[in-house]
Amino acid sequence: MLVIGSANVDISVSVDRLPAPGETALGGERLERWGGKGANQALAALRAGARVRFVSATGDDPAGAAYRRRLLSEGLQRRGLLTVPGPTGTALIIVDGAGRNQIAVSPGANARLTPRLMGLDKAKNNGILEFGDAVLAQLEIPAASVIAAFRSAKRRGAVTILNPAPAPGPLSPKLIQLADVIVPNEIEAAVLAGRAASRSEAGLLRICRALLKKGAGSVVLTAGARGALLHGKGESAWVRPPGGIRVADTTGAGDVFSGALAASLAEGATLKNAVRFAVAAGALSVRKKGAQEGIPGRKVIREALKKTLWEPVMRG
Ligand code: RIB
Repeated sequence: MLVIGSANVDISVSVDRLPAPGETALGGERLERWGGKGANQALAALRAGARVRFVSATGDDPAGAAYRRRLLSEGLQRRGLLTVPGPTGTALIIVDGAGRNQIAVSPGANARLTPRLMGLDKAKNNGILEFGDAVLAQLEIPAASVIAAFRSAKRRGAVTILNPAPAPGPLSPKLIQLADVIVPNEIEAAVLAGRAASRSEAGLLRICRALLKKGAGSVVLTAGARGALLHGKGESAWVRPPGGIRVADTTGAGDVFSGALAASLAEGATLKNAVRFAVAAGALSVRKKGAQEGIPGRKVIREALKKTLWEPVMRG
């Protein structure tokens, strides 16, 4: 499968409580780790058992060189790991005592991952996007590149999965319509649907319905400890995560979810089974600090999967 997206250096600080606007919070030690939604998702898909090409741009700085070495040593293909002049993307992350986070990203090289950089201008096509039965993307890179990757997927019959994060506002209708499966969290879903955020499960279902009307094939809304709400043309259901998992850090949990979902769809699973697999993977990922440290392997995901619950929602 193909993942196209960002690669960042994550700089994080733990605090007791996330600071309010204008407030300064004194925190613990500064940690520097590998992150970026694209890289997190690519590695999650790889550990979930998929063969993965990761199309990304890192800088020609020492961080970029070290990151490319790491991605290769993890088993990602060399093809797709592009280098551009300038700094690698950086994310500033604050994590509170309950494992919740606030993130600000400086895109750096990610902003230069354009169709032109991928050799797609002037009707040339070097085939970089032609790989695998599923294509997964997020929105920390230019939207034109996500559209190009999804169009290429459609031409060869691959399934397209969009994690619309971050969601700065309403998305291009073209992008939503190219997504077979859209995977927002509660905040992103409300922003994309143009509605007020809701905490209630009935409210979340209404938001999913609004997203489906905008042209997405199916919606899989991630809702933290409550699990995920699958809303497609044929069925609606909550998938509840296994209980008893101690939360150290939720950073990247949505990425592990998306990567595992796409890996499962790429190997031909039904959406229902893929969501159960993804819920188990996302739940396991919060046990360690850092976006990539807690990414689980296929075997443990399959064990945890048995403890997920499928709760159909009555369609009214
Ligand atoms: O989803 C978590 C990720 O968001 C972090 O790794 C950070 O780099 C930002 O992209």
